[in-house]
Amino acid sequence: MSEENIYDKMLAEPFRIKVVEPIRVTDRAQREKILKDADYNIFKIRSVDVFIDLLTDSGTAAMSHDQWAGIMKGDESYAMCRNYFSLKEVVEDLFGFENFVPTHQGRAAENILFSIVVNNGNIIPNNMHFDTTRANIEVRGGRALNLVNKGAYDPTLELPFKGNIDLDELEKALVNFGKEKIPLIMLTITNNSGGGQPVSMENIRGVRKLADKHEIPFFFDACRFSENAYFIKEREPEFENTDVRDIVREMFSYVDGFTMSAKKDGLCNIGGLLAARDDELFRRIQEVLIIREGFITYGGLAGRDLEALAIGFREATEESYLKYRTGQIKYLADRLTEEGIPIIRPPGGHAVYIDAKTLLPHIPQSEFPAQALTLELYLEAGIRGVEIGSVMFAGKDHETGEVVYPELELLRLAIPRRVYTNNHLDVVVEAFKNIRKRAGSIKGYKIVWEPPTLRHFIAEFSPL
Ligand code: F0G
Repeated sequence: MSEENIYDKMLAEPFRIKVVEPIRVTDRAQREKILKDADYNIFKIRSVDVFIDLLTDSGTAAMSHDQWAGIMKGDESYAMCRNYFSLKEVVEDLFGFENFVPTHQGRAAENILFSIVVNNGNIIPNNMHFDTTRANIEVRGGRALNLVNKGAYDPTLELPFKGNIDLDELEKALVNFGKEKIPLIMLTITNNSGGGQPVSMENIRGVRKLADKHEIPFFFDACRFSENAYFIKEREPEFENTDVRDIVREMFSYVDGFTMSAKKDGLCNIGGLLAARDDELFRRIQEVLIIREGFITYGGLAGRDLEALAIGFREATEESYLKYRTGQIKYLADRLTEEGIPIIRPPGGHAVYIDAKTLLPHIPQSEFPAQALTLELYLEAGIRGVEIGSVMFAGKDHETGEVVYPELELLRLAIPRRVYTNNHLDVVVEAFKNIRKRAGSIKGYKIVWEPPTLRHFIAEFSPL
């Protein structure tokens, strides 16, 4: 006799809300002024003027009462504080790494690792580099090589593991450049720049095989490791009945090290990790950490942050949490799809990406369609997303000097963890229904001032 459990089919939050933060609704006239005052740059809008903030899922999680209780157990001793040992226990148990250091966030871990291993002319293959890994490689004269499978570039193609690296292309790169030029191979789980798409265990095993064959270390950029593990459980038949934590353990058993921004699946507001199995490399990491971040047991964090992180890793690998988490992203994605709003399919683990090229086909890339859509969403409902298109990624061809535009023009709606309810997400859907009705009248933007690097953060725009 099978027993029906209604919660199997429902996405009810596996928590109740104990502390609330009021948010404010503005009217359209106010938002018009706010946008103008912010030079039409979404990063310059005050957060108090935002009703639903989907700028990022990084550092924006709501902590649990256990995490807040852990904060009270913060031991602020400079060396060997007790919270480091709480973290160590979890890192050893979940990731199987004894050699690890905390860092203040992901890019600090990247900075330390790449300052040690990347030399001028080196190449780092990845499924897809995030901006900060790319920048940390390029400032050292290295080349960040994206080798994600071709399907990742087709927004409507439904593949279970759209984050997979193309193993044939990877092998070609390894044969061409060899271990002399390639200090390590990276895999970003999940693939943020490609839509938060997961990487399969089969693909991870495939990279391990190639890494062994060519004697090149293999590292994860592991920010969203637990969302990736949950997709493996859901979509890779071999793991259907495997505990998510065992999937995490197996994933990490294949790598020689990892960088991690713990501001995502660490369910923390700040923090990162850097781990390496090789003792000699790990010694050098500790040396650089002490110069740049802090002592080896706190790495730029307070003791209390380490405790919150140790607890966060356990909570983020609870299956009830992951079911709710990935279910919420899917809820928003499916509702937008029902309304005919073009998005990257299938939905990934932390965000929904709206395809601005398809929604606003009349705006050429030189007039920033994804930026126009981002600003329109704020105007419509006080919702803040982030442009991932020509403002962020257009570059100049080194030889011809011509502007090279990215393949995709996206508006990313990143969902903070445990923060918004599906009622909030319904507002997002309503906003897009209205925007869609007047899509043809939406105009592009021009840049009136920009800095030489990472311009999207502080550039100034004006409407056309
Ligand atoms: N790697 C990936 C895949 C990321 O998504 C991020 C941050 C980092 C590294 C850097 O970590 O911010 O702690 O230094 N992504 C955030 C985002 C900023 O909004 O996607 P960090």
